[in-house]
Amino acid sequence: MSHLPFQTDRDVDERVQLAFDESGPGPAVVLLHGFPFDRSLWRRQFDVLQNDYRVVTPDLRGHGASEVTVGTVTMESMAGDIERLMDHLQITRATIGGLSMGGYVALAFARLFPDRIQALVLADTRAQADTEEAKQNRAVQAEKAMTEGMKPIADAMLPKLVTTETMASRPEVVEHVRSMIMNTPPEGAAAALRGMAERQDQRPFLKRIDVPTLLIVGRNDPITPVADSELMNQAISGSRLEVIDDAAHVSNLEQSDRFNNALVGFLRSVATN
Ligand code: MLT
Repeated sequence: MSHLPFQTDRDVDERVQLAFDESGPGPAVVLLHGFPFDRSLWRRQFDVLQNDYRVVTPDLRGHGASEVTVGTVTMESMAGDIERLMDHLQITRATIGGLSMGGYVALAFARLFPDRIQALVLADTRAQADTEEAKQNRAVQAEKAMTEGMKPIADAMLPKLVTTETMASRPEVVEHVRSMIMNTPPEGAAAALRGMAERQDQRPFLKRIDVPTLLIVGRNDPITPVADSELMNQAISGSRLEVIDDAAHVSNLEQSDRFNNALVGFLRSVATN
């Protein structure tokens, strides 16, 4: 694990430490985890990709071993963190992949820093902003995290993150997901919840994406359903959609081999373009 001190925001004199793993030769692939997880979400992808790619998996601000900033952390500020991490690692352009909140950050990154993107991978995510009801729910969840800790969030989220089959028969997957949630600092989770509630509708931007894009989604994802990926697939020129059977929201964990096949096939096709 490496730690990186860098400027978090161009307008604010504030520094955070960002934790990340990095390994491998070849074109850079940066993978951004969802909420409220950490970089271990990508363990199975990291192990495979590092043979042929320079894989970078950061803990997003307020998550895992990265430093927390209290208040509201927007998707744009997380995207800025990633741009500065790439500067630090002297990576000019990368494939940026994100799952769920990581996808919101990846879309913000593509909008803010189009010159730094080689390709996009958007997994179990969506382009729409929150509804008013969802925003109110985020505020309730943020308050709950601050007063009761992460357990109620873990209990509420787990049945939506994995399929009922995984819940019943794959305790190691369930335990991994639960431990990522429980290890998230409540202040970091609350700040990300407020940032997600503020995020903008990215649908108008989709038509401007001009890099190869892979969309992946678990067929049984109740949080960001297949329809959300179909919407993005229709709007993004030349994108490809892979629907993963027997998976809910953390499709990369539940069906890591299928997810990796889709990812590696896409990365190879990008390299030969
Ligand atoms: C995530 O997995 O990152 C979150 O479920 C996304 C969200 O709450 O919108």
